[in-house]
Amino acid sequence: MDYKAILNAIEKELEHFDPGGKVPDYIPELAKVSADKFGMHLYCINGDNFYFGDHDERFSIQSISKVFTLALAKKYGGKKIWKRVDVEPSGDPFNSLLQLEKENGIPRNPFINAGSLVIADILISELENPKECLLEFVREISDDPTIEYDDKVAASEQTNGYRNIALVNYMKSLGNIKNDADDILDFYFHQCSLAMSCCQLAKSFMIFANEGKTLRTSKKMIGANSAKRINAIMQTCGFYDEAGEFSFRVGLPGKSGVGGGIVAIHPGQYSVAVWSPLLNEKGNSEKGMKALEELTSLTGLSIF
Ligand code: DON
Repeated sequence: MDYKAILNAIEKELEHFDPGGKVPDYIPELAKVSADKFGMHLYCINGDNFYFGDHDERFSIQSISKVFTLALAKKYGGKKIWKRVDVEPSGDPFNSLLQLEKENGIPRNPFINAGSLVIADILISELENPKECLLEFVREISDDPTIEYDDKVAASEQTNGYRNIALVNYMKSLGNIKNDADDILDFYFHQCSLAMSCCQLAKSFMIFANEGKTLRTSKKMIGANSAKRINAIMQTCGFYDEAGEFSFRVGLPGKSGVGGGIVAIHPGQYSVAVWSPLLNEKGNSEKGMKALEELTSLTGLSIF
């Protein structure tokens, strides 16, 4: 497969594509990011990699971090995590409170905000220093010890995080939050603030394409069965109320973030990250989706 030519074609085709939409303003630090950033990085399972544009510039990974924390929660919390969070698509926006009341405070899945807050609660219960542990995990799977939280972004979200504050307190009232709400929010805002480039994201997501093993060292970071299950949840829930659309257009398990990043994987083949900050109404990068749609059309390599 001539990935180099295909990525060149995508870059050229989308050079003047106007996705519309906007950068998120409910996290003021993210509203400062230049809307015309655009980059893509693809890692093949054999280590070959291809890229263009702003592929090496770090941005706020936001909800993409929910995949990392789920992987850690599966590792340290085992099967019992599924008593606290479900695995069904929500069909509602990522920050919705609606379903919780009727569903006893059990979030539909670990990728909506409510679900990831429960996962944060589980990690705080299971780990002595969850922030440190998450950072170590991400550094190891991306083979890059320089990855850091962005404290400015975390603080920016903290001052405006009314929805998440409401969600965690509401779930606490319904009995599905065990730890202190402030500790959970602090961990959650930090996980979302992780700053990574498309290159680092594509490399780190290789564990999901490679049966739980890292790309360079082949170290088993999660079980093959965990990778399979997390991929299934990415496929059905990774884009919230746009999960069907992403499956329809792209045909890969993936995860988006309001920083404008999307990562998608093809098990046994490749992992790919794209970044373009303008978001559509569902909070997903429109140009990023378009780039991935082109990728799977031109390669003929989607999972379907
Ligand atoms: O909790 C929030 O609202 C943000 N920190 C993350 C949301 C997000 O990335 C949704 N994804 N597209």
